[in-house]
Amino acid sequence: MQMRKTVAVVNLKGGVGKTTTAVNFAACLGEMGRKILLVDMDPQGSASLSVGVINEGSELLDALQTNSALPVVSTEVHNLDLVPSGMAMATANQWFTGDNVNEILFQCLGQTRGDYDLVVIDCPPSLSFHTMNALMACQHVIVPVEASFLGMNGLKQMAVAIESVKPQNPDIKIEAVIPCRAHRRRRIHWEIMDQLNAMFPGRVSPIIRENVAITEAPGKGKPVIVTARVSKGADDYRLVTLWIDEQINGEQASTESPYAGVGVESSAGESAYSYEPREPNEEINSDTY
Ligand SMILES: Nc1ncnc2c1ncn2[C@@H]1O[C@H](COP(=O)(O)OP(=O)(O)OP(=O)(O)O)[C@@H](O)[C@H]1O
Ligand SMILES: [Mg+2]
Repeated sequence: MQMRKTVAVVNLKGGVGKTTTAVNFAACLGEMGRKILLVDMDPQGSASLSVGVINEGSELLDALQTNSALPVVSTEVHNLDLVPSGMAMATANQWFTGDNVNEILFQCLGQTRGDYDLVVIDCPPSLSFHTMNALMACQHVIVPVEASFLGMNGLKQMAVAIESVKPQNPDIKIEAVIPCRAHRRRRIHWEIMDQLNAMFPGRVSPIIRENVAITEAPGKGKPVIVTARVSKGADDYRLVTLWIDEQINGEQASTESPYAGVGVESSAGESAYSYEPREPNEEINSDTY
C-alpha cells in the first residue's frame, strides 16, 4: 500500500484553532508549491466550508464503508485538493465495528489517486471514530492549543490518547504544539508558554496571534493567506508552516524560503516567535488584568 506523509491536526478540546490551522497550514504549503490533500474528518464540515465547499459527507462515509478511494474535489486554493465532509459523517461511529475499525481511513487513503506531497487531516474535538482513524493514518501530529488552564488539560489528555495508539502506529509523533489565538500581553500566555516548553521541549512552534482577519476568512470560503494576504494572521501561519515543514522534513525543507523578502514578520511590527527571553512582567497590560 502506498504510504504518504500524513499530518493529523488534533485536539480533544473544541474551538482551539484545529480547522484554522489545518486549512492555513495546507494553504501555505500549497502557496510554497507543494501538492496538498486536505481531508476533512469532522462532521461539522468546517474545513470544507473554509475552502468554499458545502458537502453532506455521504461520499466520504460511502468510501469508508466500501473501503475504496476517498472522494477528492479540487478547490480554488492553489495546489489544494479536498476530501469534503458533512453531517452524514456524524453517524460513522454507528457503522463500523470490528478489530480494524480505526484503520479504515489509512486503507482508503492508500487507494486514493493523486500525486500529493502531504495529506493534512482535520479532526473533530473528540476521541471518536474520526479522530482515531486520523491518528492511525498519520505519522505526524500537530496540536493547536489555547493558552488557558482548560486548554492545558486537553493537551495532557491528547498526549495520553496518542500514547494509546503507539502500539499499532509506532511512527506517530507529536511534531508541533501550536499556541493559537495568543495574546502576548496577558500573563496567562507566558505562564502557559513556560508549561508548554517544559512539556514539549523543541516542539512548541511560533505563536498564532488572535487576529480578526482569521475570524473573518471562513465566511469568505478562503484561507486567511488568500483573503488577507498581508495580515498578522497570514504572517503567523506562513511562519508556523515553515517551522513545521522543518520539523517534518528536516533542514533541507526550507533552505530556499519561498517567503524570502516577503517579510513574514512585517505586518504587525512584532515577531510571532513565541519564546524569546523576556523581562519579568514585560508587556503585561494592566488593562487586561
Ligand atoms: N488566531 C485566531 N484569531 C482569531 N480567530 C481565530 C483564530 N484562530 C481561530 N479563530 C476562530 O475561532 C473559531 C474556532 O476556530 P476553529 O474552527 O479553527 O477551531 P476548532 O478547534 O477547529 O473547533 P472545533 O473543535 O469546533 O472543530 C473560528 O471562528 C475561527 O475563525
Ligand atoms: Mg474544527
